[in-house]
Amino acid sequence: MKQNKTFPDQFLWGGATAANQLEGAWNEDGKGPSVIDGLTCSRDFTERFNGVGNKYPSHVGIDFYHRYKEDIALFAEMGFSIFRMSIAWTRVFPKGDETEPNEAGLAFYDAVFDELAKYNIEPLVTISHFEMPQYLVDHYGGWKNRQLVDFYVHFATTLFERYKGKVRYWLTFNEINMATFIPQISIGSSAAEGEKEEEVMYQALHHQFVASALATKEAKLIDPVNQVGCMIAYAPVYPLSAKPEDVFTAQQKEEEKHFFTDVQVRGYYPDNKLAYFAENEIHINIEQGDEEILAAYPVDFISFSYYSSNAASFEKSGKESTGNAMLGEKNPHLEESDWGWTIDPLGLRVALNTLYNRYQVPLMVVENGLGAVDEVENDEIHDDYRIAYMKAHVEAMRDAIIKDGVDLVAYTSWGCIDLVSAGTGEMAKRYGFIYVDRHNDGSGTLKRLKKDSFYWYQKVIESNGADV
Ligand code: BG6
Repeated sequence: MKQNKTFPDQFLWGGATAANQLEGAWNEDGKGPSVIDGLTCSRDFTERFNGVGNKYPSHVGIDFYHRYKEDIALFAEMGFSIFRMSIAWTRVFPKGDETEPNEAGLAFYDAVFDELAKYNIEPLVTISHFEMPQYLVDHYGGWKNRQLVDFYVHFATTLFERYKGKVRYWLTFNEINMATFIPQISIGSSAAEGEKEEEVMYQALHHQFVASALATKEAKLIDPVNQVGCMIAYAPVYPLSAKPEDVFTAQQKEEEKHFFTDVQVRGYYPDNKLAYFAENEIHINIEQGDEEILAAYPVDFISFSYYSSNAASFEKSGKESTGNAMLGEKNPHLEESDWGWTIDPLGLRVALNTLYNRYQVPLMVVENGLGAVDEVENDEIHDDYRIAYMKAHVEAMRDAIIKDGVDLVAYTSWGCIDLVSAGTGEMAKRYGFIYVDRHNDGSGTLKRLKKDSFYWYQKVIESNGADV
């Protein structure tokens, strides 16, 4: 049988961003402070998440707030048909518990959507991407408090109503499984005296699951064309050896991730998690009616980020690999990026197969890319390392679609334009096809330059993935 080497006709190609990492204007036009605004720039996780130091690159970001027209024109030039972005909750509801939204915040996103529409670029909107209002943490204790469900659903409903006809693809929470690794910006909750850390986390997550399901319900009621997805950070976990104990450890880690998709796609808690709760005396408050809500409003599709794979063993090998906040054993078969993230294109095909075969719903890869240091010479950036990474990952997706039958419908590479790192707060960790002249210390003109990868991606999109 002759193989069609291109992606499906309707495949959506584009890039992904998050408000707090590119907009800047962190306190303009009525915006309130969010949980990430207080984090500083440091490669030391503890320092960053405790706000040690005085550098806040995200406060200016890449100034997308004032330069979105120029940036969207560049996305259009690359041929984007989709653009993933998030809405800063604190632009719309500065404290989070208001009844009336901040009109200036809503108007900004109207302008962005109108600009995208000019070029027929479909927005893919993350409703909450690590940027909940700080006020909700300080006054309500974050997501462990049930009231957050109402605040979030009010926020989401405000967006569905306002942007009806402009946005139809929505993601409820960015990387919902990050609650396990970076609770500060994911759930904004910690254990008070007498509370168990893990119990607090699962309680907060339960509230997010319910909020996501209720938002999905509202999205459909307001406009039946709306499509709502979940979003998880996905790193397949390989056993470090063929020892049954290693295989089992890796399988357990896989199931920790699938817990999230099980609830959001299947609509109920998996038995392995209920057994874990019983075994570890974790009691969470599931209110009457919650189970029905989860079952009635599952997501339409799964979206996920993929940067690297992980390895696991029963006994610690003593050599660790960092990855996207998910620590694992060092895999001797893989190279790593400058930030210690494994480079494993086949792992993306593994992820696509696992998710599709398990759930049989459409998939979107909404983050993928290589964080690297770029050198500028005469306004040119020869990022062949990035092209090599991206090429191998695009080929892995093509194989998954064509050879494995996976229903992958969209690809948005992470940080299509350089932006501030979520993990370290740096500008130096660049993912973009577009270089932005801005540095960790706040210097730089914010000028945009096209990297070699810009032209490479343009060609990929133009050929619908045939020419990589
Ligand atoms: C994902 C996040 O975890 O990874 C993004 O959704 C983040 O917000 C991306 O930027 C890459 O991580 P980092 O730490 O390199 O910015």
